[in-house]
Amino acid sequence: MAKLQLSDNEEIELEDGSPIKDACEEAGVPFACTEGVCGTCVIEVKEGHENLSPMTQEELDFLGETTEERLACQCRIQHGSVKIEY
Ligand code: FES
Repeated sequence: MAKLQLSDNEEIELEDGSPIKDACEEAGVPFACTEGVCGTCVIEVKEGHENLSPMTQEELDFLGETTEERLACQCRIQHGSVKIEY
């Protein structure tokens, strides 16, 4: 199981390889397009960026090469723990 740590120190366990969208949505991250084009769902990755799936082309187009931000509608947690803020 992978673990997503949220801004308020809440932790959510997710199956390895799961999208993080639903957990983020429940935690209050806003979403709009869910297709990686609007940027509404930008989250900051505080720790464990290497445990997320590689950036999608949509993320690269919107955010550029970065380890500090992701689009929550686009990324999956692969394993281990990831700490995010939003
Ligand atoms: S909801 Fe539009 S980029 Fe994620």
